[in-house]
Amino acid sequence: MLPVGWNSDSQNSFVYVVAALAALNGLLFGFDTGVISGAMLYIRNTFELTALFGYAIEPDLVEGIVVSGAMVGAILGAALGGRLADRLGRRRLILIGAVVFFVGSLIMAIAPTVEVLILGRIIDGIGIGFASVVGPLYISEISPPKIRGSLVSLNQLTITSGILIAYLVNFAFSDGGEWRWMLGLGMVPAAVLFLGMVFMPESPRWLYEQGRESAARDVLSRTRAEAKVDAELREIRETIRTESGTLRDLLRPWVRPMLIVGVGLAAFQQVTGINTVIYYAPTILESTGFEDTASILATVGIGAVNVVMTVVAVVLIDRTGRRPLLLSGLAGMTVMLGVLGIAFVLPGLSGVVGWAATASLMLYVAFFAIGLGPAFWLLISEIYPMEVRGTAMGVATVVNWAGNLLVSLTFLRLVNRIGESGTFWLYGLLSLAALVFCYQLVPETKGRSLEEIEADLRETALASGAGRREGTESEADD
Ligand code: BGC
Repeated sequence: MLPVGWNSDSQNSFVYVVAALAALNGLLFGFDTGVISGAMLYIRNTFELTALFGYAIEPDLVEGIVVSGAMVGAILGAALGGRLADRLGRRRLILIGAVVFFVGSLIMAIAPTVEVLILGRIIDGIGIGFASVVGPLYISEISPPKIRGSLVSLNQLTITSGILIAYLVNFAFSDGGEWRWMLGLGMVPAAVLFLGMVFMPESPRWLYEQGRESAARDVLSRTRAEAKVDAELREIRETIRTESGTLRDLLRPWVRPMLIVGVGLAAFQQVTGINTVIYYAPTILESTGFEDTASILATVGIGAVNVVMTVVAVVLIDRTGRRPLLLSGLAGMTVMLGVLGIAFVLPGLSGVVGWAATASLMLYVAFFAIGLGPAFWLLISEIYPMEVRGTAMGVATVVNWAGNLLVSLTFLRLVNRIGESGTFWLYGLLSLAALVFCYQLVPETKGRSLEEIEADLRETALASGAGRREGTESEADD
């Protein structure tokens, strides 16, 4: 079954090539996420992890810095990336991101000391920070409304594929412990992304906003059926306003509700615990009674479930809409986290209970993959007005990476303090809170153009009074 609208004649098939290529941004992100846990096992054998810059430091802390260096870089990259995407253009930032990631991977692969390795991780992370903002943003702006959901979700599909590929690479290189190859392989997708993007067009919406109407029209002609071009251009023209896209603009009363939605989704996507499974699956599985190798294989299984269910989301998201997938996914995650917590308080984890724990872990990942995984990145690329879109996505993405860092730094400590059950129940409660939040606040964006979504959100704000104040403010500004 093809995703809805993929076989219609309302677009030009070139748009699939553009989206698939830009989705390699997700591959960089996913590969980096999945590869470090495997590489770390062998980095320990190469370097003395007892000091940094000559100062004695606990080995655990040094390891933590190596692992989380990329997340710190990604926070930085996302913070800069939003503004840069608005200033320099989406395509140019993708090119820059690919170069930065390539350089980071190269530095890691040849690092002579652990300090240089950490530098490589941070640079690599900055590239991922750029990629995570601009990948979904670019695809969203270049897609025809009818298939925007599935095309933007290709980026989540490549994130999950990147994680799975990294698990397999870890497995393949584990015999010789060749961690330099593991980390260096990231250069391959970065090079492909760079070379491919050289030939791709800029986002038509960004071009229009820069006053380059005829260039915008050209891009639309290359990616739409000719009959659709004029109408879409007219819509873009009617929506472009004068906000300059600064952080202050995000606090304008009619943008603020969507800022809350984006930041809320960003935080919930992380604090409901997905990356504890992605990073620590073998550890969790070992505590359910699996042997070493079996738990690594089961980890590959988890990676595969993540990919397969993301394919399901890609197929469904323009058919059912965003809300049904998001809400049912969150409901499923809540239940599975509850069950997982129960499994860990029952005695005899190694028997049936162990299998039940593993099954609920897999189902939890499946529910994430069908809802919150793709829906977060898609929605933040849809709900912001053109003038502040890059900046606003940057803010949401910073929160997402900060949440990622927080959860990965606190997970093992939480398990020590309140046990596995307590930890999973805590994530379960947060999933329930996310469900209520999304039910109340997240708008449906299926099938509508970015301009229609923007106009609707303005109207809603106006009706609630916030926009009226805003209107008066802008008149006064004029
Ligand atoms: C999240 C990542 C996560 C991945 C797992 C993404 O949407 O942002 O933090 O590792 O999904 O599939």
